[in-house]
Amino acid sequence: MKMLAIIGGSGLTHLRNLTVRERRILRTPYGEPSAPMVYGAVGGHDVIFLPRHGHGHTIPPHRVNYQANLWALKECGASHVIAVNAVGAIRLSLVPGSLVLPDQIIDYTYGRAHTFFGSSPEPVTHVDFTHPYCETLRKVLRDGATRAGLELALGATYAATQGPRFETVAEIRRLEQDGADIVGMTGMPEAGLARELGLCYASLAVVANFAAGKAAGEIDLRTIERYLETGMTQVRSLLEEAIPRLYDPASTRDS
Ligand code: HPA
Repeated sequence: MKMLAIIGGSGLTHLRNLTVRERRILRTPYGEPSAPMVYGAVGGHDVIFLPRHGHGHTIPPHRVNYQANLWALKECGASHVIAVNAVGAIRLSLVPGSLVLPDQIIDYTYGRAHTFFGSSPEPVTHVDFTHPYCETLRKVLRDGATRAGLELALGATYAATQGPRFETVAEIRRLEQDGADIVGMTGMPEAGLARELGLCYASLAVVANFAAGKAAGEIDLRTIERYLETGMTQVRSLLEEAIPRLYDPASTRDS
């Protein structure tokens, strides 16, 4: 049976179109998730919502307990996870306020608990991560965008940086040379942990700003907030269209 979870990022600490049924505090072998799990429905379809940075947006990217978050979602019965991530644009055609569906990721983070393996004396396990995002969910999100009449840029490489500071011009130049199109602080280890748990996971990225050196001047938080607001309005419309499609057996193969 399918069960969708949504991990909200910066700008999405709650889902306005979610009818809330219950909030449940969970504990996991890895500690507590960022917030109580919100059980509810969007358009009559069951959805679990978890704000990555906590309800009051108090947990910075490097302090998020990604292990507990993913473990708890799996424990709640989630099979599919849509992660919403605020990003900076390295590719100039991805303008602030727009939506991007990444298909690749490069991990530049460090010191984060990035795997469920290795803490118990089990045989060494390596998961395949050739295609880090689940194609079933990517298709659902693409279809949702089409039905909502929204533009969604396809095929971008997400560079996951440590934060919480933004990057230098030279760092962005390096990420660009590495092939990255967008940069954010929360994409990893989340995507890798989801894969280890066998969850079908995709990221929906919202461009909040041009990355360092890609526009004149410095990165301004107030401008970011404005673009995130526009972006998240689009995210809500897209999700409203995408969610029924995930639960419609005719529009997805079960995965
Ligand atoms: N860099 C890293 N993470 C981000 C950015 C950025 O420019 N914008 C939003 N999240």
